[in-house]
Amino acid sequence: MESKTKLTSDSSEWHWWLLVAVIAVLVVGAASITIWRDFHELRHKVPRIRRPPGGVMQKYSDALHVSTQFFDVQKSGKLENNRIKWRGDSGLEDGKDDNLDLSKGLYDAGDHMKFGFPMAFTATVLAWSILEYGQHMEAVNELKHAQESLKWITDYLINAHPSDNVLYIQVGDPDIDHKCWERPETSTEKRPTIQVNSSYPGSDVACETAAAMAAASLVFKNQDSGYSKLLLDHAQKLFEFANSYPGVYSKSIPSIQDYYKSSGFVDELLWAASWLYHATGDGYYIDYVTVMHGNAFANWGNPTWFSWDNKLPGIQVIFLVSDPEFIFFFWGGGVGGGGLGKPSF
Ligand SMILES: *[C@@H]1O[C@H](CO)[C@@H](O)[C@H](O)[C@H]1NC(C)=O
Repeated sequence: MESKTKLTSDSSEWHWWLLVAVIAVLVVGAASITIWRDFHELRHKVPRIRRPPGGVMQKYSDALHVSTQFFDVQKSGKLENNRIKWRGDSGLEDGKDDNLDLSKGLYDAGDHMKFGFPMAFTATVLAWSILEYGQHMEAVNELKHAQESLKWITDYLINAHPSDNVLYIQVGDPDIDHKCWERPETSTEKRPTIQVNSSYPGSDVACETAAAMAAASLVFKNQDSGYSKLLLDHAQKLFEFANSYPGVYSKSIPSIQDYYKSSGFVDELLWAASWLYHATGDGYYIDYVTVMHGNAFANWGNPTWFSWDNKLPGIQVIFLVSDPEFIFFFWGGGVGGGGLGKPSF
């Protein structure tokens, strides 16, 4: 009698463990599938922090209103929706000698130069800010304003790229410009242009322009698909130009070295490819960064700042936001310190 009871209790215990084991297998299986799927879906997502805006803090809202005026103050061309009382039309003839309309875009600083390299970088970062924080800008009524400022630059960049392998990268002559203290509205100095082309290449400036256009194509994708496609088309062609004719623009054209001289173009090639990957979802661009030019990646070092001349930290961030799996890639390349050899350019 006693042994029979024991047998029954043993067998119910056995069933109990079987049930626990089955549930455990199901849980582990479901978790693995979810993690695997997340990794693979993330690959095709546009980098965006989708945190909804919380309460608006007045001081930050005021700071944003004031700081976005910077773009309005710097504008060249025939102004639209001008918010700055003391600014008027200027630079209307820019590009005319080349049969181009280079009237838009932004002046660099207190001078009236248009330097393509930092101007394109400004557009890339503005586009990135809109992609990441557009909802927050919208919450304080600044989104449309930011988009208009971005378009003011990309309109200029489109016109500055009149054929596949030609990109105008400068309007004005700093030696002439810096001698005059005057308003751009009344300036009468000569404003020569400079281009990069297949004989005088500039992969850095071409790729920064491509990055700006690819990032902006994402900003305008939903509201103006025609404009977005146009930007993407220019971006892809500029990337091809930069890739086919490698060169540092300030070496090709030494006369411009005093302002925004570039220290190299590998970072811009990868930066443009990263944005093109996000804008197109085309695996070619991700292979370009991670496989075809893994050598260049191996020389990451540990970049500590992001600037108009060094985009490496920015590339790391946009890759990691799109797919946390890339952390292994950067660890491999960054800490190893050039184990894979020199960039192939
Ligand atoms: C190519 O660019 C250089 C540098 O800006 C310029 O001197 C040259 O005229 C350009 N070539 C053509 C065919 O326009």
